[in-house]
Amino acid sequence: MDSHPSAPAWSPASWQARRVTQMPAYRDAAALADALAQLAQLPPLVTSWEIEALKGRLALAQQGRAFVLQGGDCAETFADCTSENIVQKLKILLQMSVVIAAGLKRPVVRVGRIAGQYAKPRSEDMETREGRVLPSYRGDLVNRNAFTAEDREPDPALMLRGYERAALTLNFVRGLIDGGFADIHHPENWDLDFVSHSPMADRYREVVRRVTDAMAFFESVTGQTIDDGRRIDFYASHEGLNLCYEQAQTRWLRHRSRWYDLTTHYPWIGARTAALDGSHVEFFRGVANPVSVKIGPATTPDELCRLAGVLNPGNEPGRLTFIHRLGAQRIDALLPAMIRAVRAAGAGVLWVCDPMHGNTEVLGSGIKTRRFDRILEELEAAFRIHAEQGSQLGGVHLELTGDHVTECIGGARGLTEQDLHRAYRSQVDPRLNYEQALEVAMRIADRG
Ligand code: PEP
Ligand code: CO
Repeated sequence: MDSHPSAPAWSPASWQARRVTQMPAYRDAAALADALAQLAQLPPLVTSWEIEALKGRLALAQQGRAFVLQGGDCAETFADCTSENIVQKLKILLQMSVVIAAGLKRPVVRVGRIAGQYAKPRSEDMETREGRVLPSYRGDLVNRNAFTAEDREPDPALMLRGYERAALTLNFVRGLIDGGFADIHHPENWDLDFVSHSPMADRYREVVRRVTDAMAFFESVTGQTIDDGRRIDFYASHEGLNLCYEQAQTRWLRHRSRWYDLTTHYPWIGARTAALDGSHVEFFRGVANPVSVKIGPATTPDELCRLAGVLNPGNEPGRLTFIHRLGAQRIDALLPAMIRAVRAAGAGVLWVCDPMHGNTEVLGSGIKTRRFDRILEELEAAFRIHAEQGSQLGGVHLELTGDHVTECIGGARGLTEQDLHRAYRSQVDPRLNYEQALEVAMRIADRG
């Protein structure tokens, strides 16, 4: 593989000299400098020990010995930082992980889109309403959603507010996990009503039975509940979009002789900012965190190989994840050549499927939705294509919530277009609800 022996020097600020896209235009330079100086002084949100432990687990997933479950909101908002929301999100992710682990008979690496998923890429820099033109809303880390000039002005202090919300979220997640969260492991306590609504009812009952048996077996053999004496791992991730924020929490750790982005364990580069010569790839090539890149239909197999060369020149296991989000209609035409090219280049990567972002549609009513069947179709195609190519699908990346929202069409209860208005809460992309998310987990488990 091309190891880029002549790669230019990297520093936490070297991205600033590259082509910068999707970044807020902060106008008050003094306020920006002040916020960044504060962020640079504040303690890190995560530690390098956690990051390196995660990288080791991702390396296992890369070999097919573990499976990554990454999920959460499209965008977190500061107002969503409530105990109820955090509990529900953690609960659905842990329940899904138990179902998947029992089905695939592999450990599951749990990763939330949580504690920092506050910055969003936008296709238009400006938004026009009734002739008024204002900057687009870019997520709570950057500006405010209300359509006034003041609210839409990028405000550097929001990076501090985001850091604080992320810290509060992580603190609560760590407390819940340390405290046990025991009922997660007993499917008889879960909200599984939807199973009987499904045409797949018998198969789902079988999955639930397997989960229950696997747990009973583990508990009888070890005399422990499944998490006694073994802290569950749960990791945080977000799109590393606002590089000012990421840079301010990036530190040189002397005991490791490497730079770490300490805002999150597992940042990703979004599909809109994955250009090889762009600022985001430049920034993330220099930090030791495991990083993902979202791969859309426009990425060529050759670009994928060059991304691997730039982001992981030493082929470090667990360092680089490609999250393909190609759409149910296009995955068969595009993915095989990508897998072959990456293999031919000798690049070791973890492959994850995001079956959400290639399957978004806007209905006549203007509502954004996704069809559950398309989501499953892309996911099943991803498993099949990787197997056909002698590769491994090592994980799934989902937009979901633990609540009973109605944002995606379909699932066991057969939600229709008419149901969407009932509980459509996302300000951005439509998420799987509790039942739909668990149903996806059961489909994955069914492959075991
Ligand atoms: C997202 O994950 O919310 C997102 C914007 O995805 P992508 O970069 O794949 O379009
Ligand atoms: Co999204």
